[in-house]
Formats: sequence, structure tokens, C-alpha cells
Amino acid sequence: MYRLAIVLVLTLAAVVVGCHLYAADEAKPAAAAPVTIQLGPPDTSGKMPLEQTLATRRSVRKYANAPISMPQLSQLLWAAQGITDPATGHRTAPSAMGTYPLHIYVFAANVSDLAAGVYKYIPQGHKLELVAEGNQNVSAGTQPQVRTAPVLFLVTADTTATAARMGAPKARDWAMLEAGCVTENILLQEVSLGLIGVPMAGYDPVKIKPLLKLPDSEEPVFIISAARRG
Ligand SMILES: Cc1cc2nc3c(=O)[nH]c(=O)nc-3n(C[C@H](O)[C@H](O)[C@H](O)COP(=O)(O)O)c2cc1C
Repeated sequence: MYRLAIVLVLTLAAVVVGCHLYAADEAKPAAAAPVTIQLGPPDTSGKMPLEQTLATRRSVRKYANAPISMPQLSQLLWAAQGITDPATGHRTAPSAMGTYPLHIYVFAANVSDLAAGVYKYIPQGHKLELVAEGNQNVSAGTQPQVRTAPVLFLVTADTTATAARMGAPKARDWAMLEAGCVTENILLQEVSLGLIGVPMAGYDPVKIKPLLKLPDSEEPVFIISAARRG
């Protein structure tokens, strides 16, 4: 009788623990897949001669209150860091030792058919990944054109891989040079699309880093606006 009671108690305990574990398993949230947006294919022929884009590029800070289209956004991102040779992974902009330390984030405040938010450009597959929801331009600085631009591109640099090959100071210097190449690509592509913008180094990274959850190794470098003429 005594032995039977022990068996019953142990069985009951096993059932209770089992149910508890099952419930805990159920309650565990599944790792959320990132929200990704596939971008359309880039135009590699264009309509405006390169010389005309060079002759007419100007820093402009007054914008129309009008959206940028998804094809325009796609084209600008391709110009910034699009992969042009899938076999090697080489991109539209050159990169020191082909290490590609730069990342491009889009502050999309007013883009047709795209929810306002901050997105990270993924060159592999030419797509966007949502990083933060809503219009976040206020986090990108206090210059008036930052607040009114429908799109801001933020170029960041993570030089961890490059530093392992050439040392930290040189890796950072070279990433800054590379950011200049990317920035000019974006600016000339804007001209070719009939858009305007300005490159900006005058911003405060204090709000940007936590918003984008940037690791210590990744620093904001340059912001470029994109807009229609006001
Ligand atoms: C490294 C760098 C940083 C810049 N930072 C800012 C900035 O923070 N705000 C701004 O309005 N323009 C900025 N500019 C744009 C310059 O003011 C502009 O290029 C210059 O006045 C020449 O005019 P242009 O671009 O129309 O030829 C920057 C340009 C460079 C190259």
C-alpha cells in the first residue's frame, strides 16, 4: 500500500512537471523573421550622360513635399552598393582590398508604397531589412533639410575585418575614403534621376547608434538626402 502511494505521487509529479515544461515551451516566442522588402532590378543604361550629371550636380537643401518612388529608391541603393559582378561580389563602388566595410541605411520618411521606417540595404539579393519603424529623420540631426527630406541615406563603417588585415587606423581612414566614393555615386545617380540632395557630415551620432542598434565596431560616417526639387 505504502509503495503504491509512492508510485502514485511520483507519477503525479511527473505529469505536473511535464505539463509545466510543455506550457513553458509554448510560451517561448519564436524568433521573429526580419521584415524584408525585395527591390526591383536596377537600370544599367540610364538616360543622362555622365558628363551632364557631373556638370549639373549641386548641393540642394530645399525640397518638395513629395515622395520618392520605390524604383528611384532601388536605383539609388544599387548606385551606392549594388553588386555588379555576382561571381566576385564586387559592387558599384570600389573597396579597399574588396573588404566592403560599409553599410547603407535608408531613413524612409516618404517613399511611395513603403511604410515609413529605417531599413538596412542588403546588397546580396538587392533587398531591404526593416530596422526601426516610423519616420526617424529627427534622430539624424537638426539641419532643416534632414527634417524635410523624404529619404536620407546613412553610410556606416564597420572596419573589424579590414583592421585585421591592415591595422585599425588605416582601416578607418580607408573606410572614410570609401564612403566618399559611395556618396558621390548616390549624388550622381540622384542627378540622373532628376532628384536633388546634399551630403552631410554635420550630424550627431548619439541618437543614431541606439536607434539602429549599431555595435561598437560600426560608426556612422555620412548622411545623404534625396528628394524632389521644391
Ligand atoms: C565632407 C563633407 C561634409 C559636408 N557636410 C555638410 C553638412 O553637414 N551640411 C550641409 O548642408 N552641407 C554639407 N556638405 C556640402 C557642402 O556644403 C557643399 O558640397 C559645398 O558647399 C559645395 O557646394 P556643391 O556641393 O553644391 O558643389 C558637405 C560636403 C562634404 C564633402
